[in-house]
Amino acid sequence: MCSQRWEWCLALELLMLPHLFLATSIQGHSEHPVTAISGSNVSLQISSLPANYTQLTWLYTADQKILEWESKRTSFFNSKFKERVRLNQNHALYIYNVQKEDSSTYILRVLEEYGREKEWYISLEVHDPVPKPVIQIWKTQEVNNACHLQLSCMIPNQSINYAWYGDSGLFSTGLQNFVLEITVEPQNYSKFYTCQASNPVSSKNDTVYFTLPCKLARSSGVAWIATWLMVMVPIVPGLLWT
Ligand SMILES: *[C@@H]1O[C@H](CO)[C@@H](O)[C@H](O)[C@H]1NC(C)=O
Ligand SMILES: *[C@@H]1O[C@H](CO)[C@@H](O)[C@H](O)[C@H]1NC(C)=O
Ligand SMILES: *[C@@H]1O[C@H](CO)[C@@H](O)[C@H](O)[C@H]1NC(C)=O
Ligand SMILES: *[C@@H]1O[C@H](CO)[C@@H](O)[C@H](O)[C@H]1NC(C)=O
Ligand SMILES: *[C@@H]1O[C@H](CO)[C@@H](O)[C@H](O)[C@H]1NC(C)=O
Repeated sequence: MCSQRWEWCLALELLMLPHLFLATSIQGHSEHPVTAISGSNVSLQISSLPANYTQLTWLYTADQKILEWESKRTSFFNSKFKERVRLNQNHALYIYNVQKEDSSTYILRVLEEYGREKEWYISLEVHDPVPKPVIQIWKTQEVNNACHLQLSCMIPNQSINYAWYGDSGLFSTGLQNFVLEITVEPQNYSKFYTCQASNPVSSKNDTVYFTLPCKLARSSGVAWIATWLMVMVPIVPGLLWT
């Protein structure tokens, strides 16, 4: 509506100017943040809208309107969302194919009867799926009867939570905690070391295999035997039949 009849819109904005000066009296409410994976469709929904309102506006930031609903009509503004949004029945903002750049605090502005304005804030965080980590073996050093290990599984330029596992469970976990440095002895080594990289929407891992006294390999003998068995098992009955 506003893109076609801008004079009318301007007049309306001017009429609404007094609201700007009342900004401090506008009630603002924050909804729970929404987390989504890139490429998915999300719905931003406000839990308790007032019963009667005359106008409803979804904004991307305080000064970028996405769409406006008034008198049963929805108008879309010229924004990067133009072809990707819809106003749902319950006046939730439905966004298709969200991207990382869509992360923001969205605002729902509602004009009630008698001109009282209310605002809701709902933040959307869009994440790409984590890439598969690759464990780098920084150090394997035999000292007396022990083995000193230093492993890294860094994924650059991303905020990632790393967790390191061995066969007795979790060693350590933490944001940006991508290095595992341990000393093991024959009585407490683990047959494998797994690094799990996660962000709020996905998780992937990599594993290296340990053999005494102080050796790490990217694949385990056990895995090789399992593959061998999978090949052999169908062959053996075949041999028995003939
Ligand atoms: C998102 O919505 C579009 C259009 O309705 C649909 O084609 C697509 O399958 C949806 N994507 C997901 C991940 O649900
Ligand atoms: C909303 O407006 C309708 C029609 O004007 C009225 O009948 C109704 O009582 C109002 N509801 C509330 C909760 O104010
Ligand atoms: C990581 O960030 C640095 C500097 O910001 C940049 O030079 C580098 O190309 C980035 N690496 C990746 C994998 O995005
Ligand atoms: C293994 O045992 C040695 C000696 O008790 C200890 O120094 C080391 O920290 C232990 N390593 C792990 C991973 O528990
Ligand atoms: C590692 O990833 C595999 C699938 O790729 C999954 O089955 C396994 O549970 C994961 N392990 C850990 C410790 O996250």
